[in-house]
Amino acid sequence: MFYHNRNLFHPATFFLIGIPGLEEVHAWISLPFCSVYLVALVGNATILLVIKTKQSLREPMFYFLAILSTVDLALSTTSVPRMLGIFWFDAHEINFGACVAQMFLIHAFTGMEAEVLVAMAFDRYVASVLHSTTRPS
Ligand SMILES: *[C@@H]1O[C@H](CO)[C@@H](O)[C@H](O)[C@H]1NC(C)=O
Repeated sequence: MFYHNRNLFHPATFFLIGIPGLEEVHAWISLPFCSVYLVALVGNATILLVIKTKQSLREPMFYFLAILSTVDLALSTTSVPRMLGIFWFDAHEINFGACVAQMFLIHAFTGMEAEVLVAMAFDRYVASVLHSTTRPS
């Protein structure tokens, strides 16, 4: 079924195939995805917890790390659960809005991740320049 929105035609839903030809082994393929996702969740949550609880980690670089972990958590959560749904529950249909939202979030979080990495690199660069100009030679 197609909706007509003045000048934008789009399908109401998309059908996500998964990995064509390997439908019988989807459950096995999901294992590495699931375990890496769980490791990423636990690892990033641990980083956030440590930064929050340790008083000695109240420094800009650790704030950057906390932001990076948060963005990582959000980024992997936008796509992996959907993929596991296809593999485990045959949830192949995704409605148009959900698909657009997922695409937007993936690109937005990828951008944020890159920006945080640039900010961290810049922070290190400025620190090293300051260090080399204040050091007696
Ligand atoms: C945090 O999540 C990202 C993926 O979103 C992953 O690549 C990274 O290894 C995770 N960090 C830890 C410490 O697990």
